[in-house]
Amino acid sequence: MIKEAIVEKLDTKSLSSASNRLCIADLGCSVGPNTFFAVQNIIDAIENKHKSEYDGSHKLEFQVFFNDHASNDFNTLFTSLPLERQYFSAGVPGTFYDQLFPSSSIHFAHSSYSLHWLSKVPEKLLDQNSSWNKGKIHCAGASDEVVNAYAAQFEKDMGIFLNARAKEIVPEGMIVLIIPGIPDEVHPSELPAGILFNFLGSSLVDRANEGILNEAQIDSFNLPIYSASPKEMASLVKINGCFSIESMEVTDPRSKIHDPMKCSKGL
Ligand SMILES: C[S@@+](CC[C@H](N)C(=O)[O-])C[C@H]1O[C@@H](n2cnc3c(N)ncnc32)[C@H](O)[C@@H]1O
Repeated sequence: MIKEAIVEKLDTKSLSSASNRLCIADLGCSVGPNTFFAVQNIIDAIENKHKSEYDGSHKLEFQVFFNDHASNDFNTLFTSLPLERQYFSAGVPGTFYDQLFPSSSIHFAHSSYSLHWLSKVPEKLLDQNSSWNKGKIHCAGASDEVVNAYAAQFEKDMGIFLNARAKEIVPEGMIVLIIPGIPDEVHPSELPAGILFNFLGSSLVDRANEGILNEAQIDSFNLPIYSASPKEMASLVKINGCFSIESMEVTDPRSKIHDPMKCSKGL
């Protein structure tokens, strides 16, 4: 899909008209090796397209920025950089819910399996008088109020993320987001991750009932993870107004569940 998007939609001629240096950012890169495969695939696709347009007469240089939280193990990332790489690399520490690069400096941004992390637990969930998530650690299987609090936090974060990227990415640049999502009209508790979070929550409640854990601590603990639906994403991109969606694809995670899942207490 990324290769197709680059071949069909990325105007490499116009992107490289001012300079032969193209900047790529991977947001939420972790320690590798996935980030290296992703970056190489992007570079290969851009180079192939460029070569077919210029007959090899105009060479591109690539600068790759690897971004993650400052606490990420950048040492491991940099010591495992592919030796044969044909790009310059740099680490950029900090949250992607903020501007990370100078204005109009990035040609291609990529983020894989990172944007489901919210910037924080929705505040309403920390208030016992508001959307208290009793006996659960996520919005899967929770009340509508809790689900809405998660959705509102995702909406806020995505607005901040898109605004920051809109400043950094050059006109005609491209951003590819791979996000653990949820098909339209499906509840989080129907997804494999939702089922897992519910089991985890129940196990913690069992420990509280046995007196091993404190119930209030479990009730106040919530995973800051949210899976958005295509409808939600499309609407947030539209509200933001800085980007247009060229292509969106959904893989239904429920296809990984082959049999109905049953679990009885004590098993
Ligand atoms: C599951 S890993 C994905 C790693 C890699 N992109 C991949 O596809 O395998 C998620 C990464 O996102 C990073 N991350 C989460 N929230 C972030 C934020 N607000 N800013 C920067 N990185 C973030 C985490 O630290 C983690 O390294």
